[in-house]
Amino acid sequence: MALFTKKNNENISFEVLPEHLGIIMDGNGRWAKKRGLPRKAGHKAGAEVFRTISKECGRLGIKYVTFYAFSTENWKRPKEEVDALMKLFHDYLLEAKEDVAQAGDIKLKIIGDKESFSPELLDLMLSAEEETAEHTGTTVYVAINYGGRQEIVRAVNKLIADGKEEITEEDISANLYTVPECDMIIRPSGEQRLSNFLLWQAAYSEFWYSDVLWPDFTKNDLYSALRDFERRNRRFGG
Ligand code: FPP
Repeated sequence: MALFTKKNNENISFEVLPEHLGIIMDGNGRWAKKRGLPRKAGHKAGAEVFRTISKECGRLGIKYVTFYAFSTENWKRPKEEVDALMKLFHDYLLEAKEDVAQAGDIKLKIIGDKESFSPELLDLMLSAEEETAEHTGTTVYVAINYGGRQEIVRAVNKLIADGKEEITEEDISANLYTVPECDMIIRPSGEQRLSNFLLWQAAYSEFWYSDVLWPDFTKNDLYSALRDFERRNRRFGG
């Protein structure tokens, strides 16, 4: 797997960067509760941090970054909260092209089961993807209605539909939403679990946890995680 050195615009350099970084944006609800605010206020603040960190990944030259924004299980949340999240996705997608333009060449891809979304949201997803399709820098995958198990089952069903009788690891890898390997997963908010995120891709991921709640996550937290990644001794089972 290709790992490479890259200098960023702020003169922070890393000897090695993860080629594919996964980020679980957790802790929005607790952030809001601490301030006596509704949960949706935490998601709004979290969406701003998503914008900052996705652009910073672009500036740093990380090749792929996947943000976990809404899981297949998140539909169980109160309607008001789900509606607020859909509105945040909607508002972001409306401005996505201008937003990612600030970080150069970001390509945007929305991953997950798109069947449950409104036609309007689907149109916006498609436009944001089309408008950035030619970009050759960082690919930002936003996982919405995403589940790692669902992603693997979908890959297998695609292969069956194609008439495959014996399925290999390479076949599944080639039919995921994202690139098949994830080098590092960042999870803030003190939780230390994968929560159905990038199950296949995380086979050899390095994990990085922190107590900071996602709306308080800064570029410096990202740099700390990346510094830590530089020092990891990865053996891939060898
Ligand atoms: C988990 O924290 C977070 C979510 C279920 C939603 C994450 C979504 C965003 C940060 C908005 C992203 C926006 C765009 C435009 C991509 P939680 O609410 O479960 O927090 P808690 O564990 O403290 O309750």
